[in-house]
This record gives sequence, structure tokens and C-alpha cells, in this order.
Amino acid sequence: MSVSDVSATPLIALERITDEGFAEVEGCIDGDHESLVLYREGDEVRGWLNICPHAGRRLDWAPGQFLKSKAGDLVCAAHGASFSLTDGECVAGPCKGDRLRSVAVQVHEGQVFLRTSG
Ligand code: FES
Repeated sequence: MSVSDVSATPLIALERITDEGFAEVEGCIDGDHESLVLYREGDEVRGWLNICPHAGRRLDWAPGQFLKSKAGDLVCAAHGASFSLTDGECVAGPCKGDRLRSVAVQVHEGQVFLRTSG
């Protein structure tokens, strides 16, 4: 996969994220510096804004410390909303049916990049 056709900002080395684990990084989205949550599954990484759609709180209970349910969902540390790690949809809790805002990330040569258009 090439990153030459898009603007891409390196975020973190893939090896620094545990498989089936999370990392918190800072990224620039639409000109604003935002906290992002990354989730690794093998060589694939998905990313979302680290903002819960329920009350706008961070999802982690301490920087970079995210909760995962036995069912394999990301659980917001504030009031327990559970989010699918496939598509970011809230599957249980106070904002059921809402979604985390996804960000475009891709892995290239062992590095996770934030993709921005233009
Ligand atoms: S802010 Fe996340 S569940 Fe309330």
C-alpha cells in the first residue's frame, strides 16, 4: 500500500501497539490537534477521535489506558458506553446507536499514518 498519493502524518510505530490493544496519539484533524484512539488487529489499525458521543468525554480512564469488554468492545471510562471496534458504533450504553468519529489511518512499512486529503 502506498502513502505517496495522500498527505500522511506518521503517528506511531506499529510495534508500539499491542496486538488487539490500544494506543492514544495526537493528530491534526481539520487544523485542530486532537487526541485519537488507535486499535490494532494484526497488521491493521483503525482509529477514532478519543471523544465519546455521549457526553464528549475522553474514552480512556488515564492517558492511553482504554477499557475493553469481554465481548471485545471499547468501553468508555466515563459512563460505560460500549463501542464496536469494527465500525465504532455504540452497541450498548447511554448513546446506543451513535458512533465514534473515525479517522483515516493506514499502516505502511511498520508505521501508522494519519491520512489527510489534499
Ligand atoms: S461520556 Fe462516554 S459514556 Fe458518557
